[in-house]
Amino acid sequence: MDKLLIAGGARLEGEVAISGAKNAALPILCAALLSAEPVTFTNVPRLRDIATLLTLLQQMGVKVERDGDTVTLDAAAITEPVAPYEMVKTMRASILTLGPLAARCGEARVSLPGGCAIGARPVDQHIKGLEAMGAAVEVEHGYVHVKVPRLKGASIVTDMVTVTGTENLMMAACLAEGETVIDNAAREPEVVDLANCLIAMGAKISGAGYDVIRIQGVPRLHGATHRIMPDRIETGTYLCAAAITGGHVRLTGARTSSLDSVLVKLIEAGCTLKSEPDAIQISAPAHLAAVDLRTAPYPAFPTDMQAQFMALDCVAQGSAMIRETIFENRFMHAIELQRLGANIRIDGNTAVVQGVEKLQGATVMATDLRASASLVVAALVAEGETIIERIYHLDRGYERLEEKLSALGAKVRRTS
Ligand code: UD1
Repeated sequence: MDKLLIAGGARLEGEVAISGAKNAALPILCAALLSAEPVTFTNVPRLRDIATLLTLLQQMGVKVERDGDTVTLDAAAITEPVAPYEMVKTMRASILTLGPLAARCGEARVSLPGGCAIGARPVDQHIKGLEAMGAAVEVEHGYVHVKVPRLKGASIVTDMVTVTGTENLMMAACLAEGETVIDNAAREPEVVDLANCLIAMGAKISGAGYDVIRIQGVPRLHGATHRIMPDRIETGTYLCAAAITGGHVRLTGARTSSLDSVLVKLIEAGCTLKSEPDAIQISAPAHLAAVDLRTAPYPAFPTDMQAQFMALDCVAQGSAMIRETIFENRFMHAIELQRLGANIRIDGNTAVVQGVEKLQGATVMATDLRASASLVVAALVAEGETIIERIYHLDRGYERLEEKLSALGAKVRRTS
């Protein structure tokens, strides 16, 4: 298994390009299942999760062509509307095939994702929404079976804000008969990017980015070309990496409008930010100030940036309170950060971080994607060498991580 070796202490300086967003690309690639015509996507990041999804789509009968960051999918014939457990267990986002398959094929068999390191993560809202649209849904032997001659428009109010739930139901509704209204919808920029792709394919959607989305079903969607939005979490992670090292970094291809809640916290920590139309620059002080934060659905502070900010607070001046309201078990990184010398107390969904003078390199273990990112951020300032094990999590969500960090002057290497 690969490990990452990071020698802390280098101040990050320079410029790197931000990749396409993983969490936008995953639902958007699934949207190709809705059309019998080829759909082309650009700015698709080269990540393990994307490769897994493309393999899954291929198994369903979709023709996949990949040339660098351009992917063309041709779902003219879907021969096997099934997402097997072996694929879903490595990538929960496989559940995003459920809505499109139900809408296009009238049937789907998708494995239940099960829990993961950060919490239980049920998919009951996806199922309830499809049932409201007239589908017969049975959960048997760990699989969700959906059968329906044609989905019917419905009024759906989700019990909580769910990102992939909103995306699944929005995709399903595109081919339903009549109008679907999704109330309490997720407002994440990735939902808007998906809606824009679906609209380019001929869908009739209004309200994406707000909490009520209306979809007027159409009989079929056509081919289109869509560029995936930049990854706001990758952007935020590199901003944290620069911040913790007191660095000065410019990130190109970044879209700052989707990052307000993160940028505000970096400014509170003492960083100076300069937004450009297609880039962002950060200059960080020698000592960061501790910042409190509370995760919540967009536009509030993203749970996917909580771990990286905890790393900043570990070496900041003062103490910070971090509250996680989305996932019940998302402080796994705290234990590993403590191995680097951090002073963190956890009480339920709250972490209190008291900044320390310095962290020390140690061997730590990555437990999930963003937890791994926080260990990388912390390792950049830890004295001596940090060895991060189980970095396959990082490969799921960060394109060319070592290359990009090295380009900024970090001392990073991968070993097997
Ligand atoms: C997506 C993101 C993930 C991010 C998360 C929250 C993708 C591929 N993943 O995950 O990176 O951390 O949003 O911003 O886009 N819930 C239920 N029942 C459901 C659905 C959700 O109880 O049917 C709960 C979840 O357990 C969680 C909360 O709702 O506590 C929000 O989850 P959700 O927004 O669905 O997360 P994902 O879409 O899985």
